[in-house]
Amino acid sequence: MNAPPACHKIMLQKKSNKIFPFITLVKTPGTLHDVMIFILGAIPVFCITSIIGINPSVAAFLVALVVFFEYLRRRQYFKIKKISLLNIIFLFVLNFGAGYFIIGSGVSVFYIPFTIIPMLVTILFGELIVSMLLTIASAVCVAALIGNSFALLLIFLTSGIISVILVFGVRRRITVIRAGFLLGLIQAGVLFLLNHFKMINSGAYVILIANGFASGIIVLGILPLFEYLFKTITNITLLELADFNQPLLNRVMLEAPGTYHHSLIVGNLADAASRSIGANALLARIGAYYHDIGKLQKPEYFSENQKLTDNKHDTLAPNMSKMIIMNHVKEGVEMAQKYHLSPQIIEFIEQHHGNSLVYYFYRRALERLEEDQGIKEEGFRYPGPKPNSKETAIVLLADAVEAATRTLKEPTAGRIEEVVHKIINNKFIDGQLDECDLTLKDMERISSVFVRVLGGMYHPRVDYPDHKHQTE
Ligand SMILES: [Fe+2]
Ligand SMILES: [Fe+2]
Repeated sequence: MNAPPACHKIMLQKKSNKIFPFITLVKTPGTLHDVMIFILGAIPVFCITSIIGINPSVAAFLVALVVFFEYLRRRQYFKIKKISLLNIIFLFVLNFGAGYFIIGSGVSVFYIPFTIIPMLVTILFGELIVSMLLTIASAVCVAALIGNSFALLLIFLTSGIISVILVFGVRRRITVIRAGFLLGLIQAGVLFLLNHFKMINSGAYVILIANGFASGIIVLGILPLFEYLFKTITNITLLELADFNQPLLNRVMLEAPGTYHHSLIVGNLADAASRSIGANALLARIGAYYHDIGKLQKPEYFSENQKLTDNKHDTLAPNMSKMIIMNHVKEGVEMAQKYHLSPQIIEFIEQHHGNSLVYYFYRRALERLEEDQGIKEEGFRYPGPKPNSKETAIVLLADAVEAATRTLKEPTAGRIEEVVHKIINNKFIDGQLDECDLTLKDMERISSVFVRVLGGMYHPRVDYPDHKHQTE
């Protein structure tokens, strides 16, 4: 049997669209599709709240917050890509569940450790709006559980909002402990105000102070677990990774001193450049410290660790040299996994060369042949992937810029500027920055920061007369 002609197929499709226009509209991504998804999502929220015995208006309020969250997320308002509605709903359920369990067990409502989740979300994601939305949603729901108590809503909202502010951008554990203690006092203070400056039920004040203090300690205890669950990394962990007594960094320092020095400079460049464009400077610095750990396998094959007269590549074919050089990315990722480094740090290792060309050995391979037959550029490119965040892209640029300026015989300000501009332009033209969100304005800023930092490093030195000279 012959297949129906193409025009017949199109007619059939058009006909089915006419018959089921509504279904087609709902299946197509767009406003109506979104509305349908939200209606379907809202149904279980209304069902659960009515089963628990909360007023249905609270469910409507929750749906409105979810719509607002999705609106911000889709417009890429959040810097962290790992924030998803599912993660936030999971944390909300934990917060609400703790409240529900404590109320159900019949003990005082002041035992509810309300500030734990707001603090946790702020430290994990560093997004104030997300933390605030979660605080408001949890406060309203828990207060609705206790007979729509306006007094408890005020205590929860005040302590929740202040907890977010206190731990935002936190870098030290002691800050979280101090925040917990302060929150205990604040919670007790709000209760004192609600009681019109009277000490009614003094036990409640003690519970609230202890609650705040315990919350700070609990947050620190559960933080590593949530970092692992959400595959994210906090400032506290980043600072721990910056310690050069960490096994991997210690090995780099002792076994590949040239790479250690190179990584420090790349870290300084990446930190300064990230600050200038509002990216995560600490993440970029620590990512830079670890970006070349793969060189530990064969440190003597990398120029920064070689003695002036000894080049291991002189006796090797360009193809073999290329393999050794390119392998440091793969080996770095394997070492990082073995040492259980965070996936966010591993991204720096695998993306810091993108799919750039190993130009030096590509040129040498071409020079060895009379005609360039058989030598393909693709064979001399790193496997990638290209940087997918501002921080990894900055480390790619800082790495290339540091390596290029190190070879300058007379690093004057003009020459440094020329090299920095050339490298950034070449990386851009080569498509290495295609998958990150750097704008042209960002690149301009990064370039001027690199010139300033490198200019400070290679500044002309005063020629001191030596001791011998002085005594003569
Ligand atoms: Fe590298
Ligand atoms: Fe490097």
